[in-house]
Amino acid sequence: MDENTRSNPEMWDRRFGLEAFAYGKEPNVWLKSRIELMNPDVHSRALFPADGEGRNAVWAAGKGWNAEVFDLSKEGKKKCMQLAENYNVTVEYHVDDLVLRSFETEDYDLIACSWFHTPTPIRKRHMPRMLHALKPGGHFVMEGYHQSQFSLTSGGPKSLDLLFDLDTVLAELTGPYAPRMSIIHASVETTVLNESDLHRGEARVVRLHLVKV
Ligand SMILES: C[S@@+](CC[C@H](N)C(=O)[O-])C[C@H]1O[C@@H](n2cnc3c(N)ncnc32)[C@H](O)[C@@H]1O
Repeated sequence: MDENTRSNPEMWDRRFGLEAFAYGKEPNVWLKSRIELMNPDVHSRALFPADGEGRNAVWAAGKGWNAEVFDLSKEGKKKCMQLAENYNVTVEYHVDDLVLRSFETEDYDLIACSWFHTPTPIRKRHMPRMLHALKPGGHFVMEGYHQSQFSLTSGGPKSLDLLFDLDTVLAELTGPYAPRMSIIHASVETTVLNESDLHRGEARVVRLHLVKV
């Protein structure tokens, strides 16, 4: 990996090493709204890539999903384990990098991520690669900041390269590196975030829900 694509676990460890939960303890509103429509059974497996302190995975585990996380941050893992214990649920958490992680094919019923921003070369190659881990009929749900968020102060990376453009990300996630995906929902929206001091106020977001054919 070169300087432009190198991941930075130290930065996330510093953020998650504090006592407070950086993005709160409640699940992301978009992910919650889509996942609540699903009916997991005892075998249903959900992957939460880059779930940081694990708020989405812990919530989903409480709803009956076998929830798994991978994320760069060992401090994030500690916070997730703490949250899972508080809610009396189990989450499997791997400290790992999207770029290096290998995925089984047709493993998960759901893959869901919030605010998983990576440099373009990583996003366009590895996000679609990850989708092969969905079973046929499996769901991919995602929320990320749109490029028009750049000048706003309600969170997100201050780099256009790390922000999402809807047409670009859709082309990638339905393109040559991806399995066949059908689009259930794809939008750019203005929303009001209230996750934590880092994610509060009017924001411009990309919201996706795709299903593997
Ligand atoms: C803005 S935080 C969002 C955390 C969580 N999804 C949430 O909404 O609370 C971004 C997360 O992406 C993770 N991350 C960034 N690049 C990654 C990579 N290449 N592989 C795995 N995790 C990564 C970071 O460690 C961090 O936890």
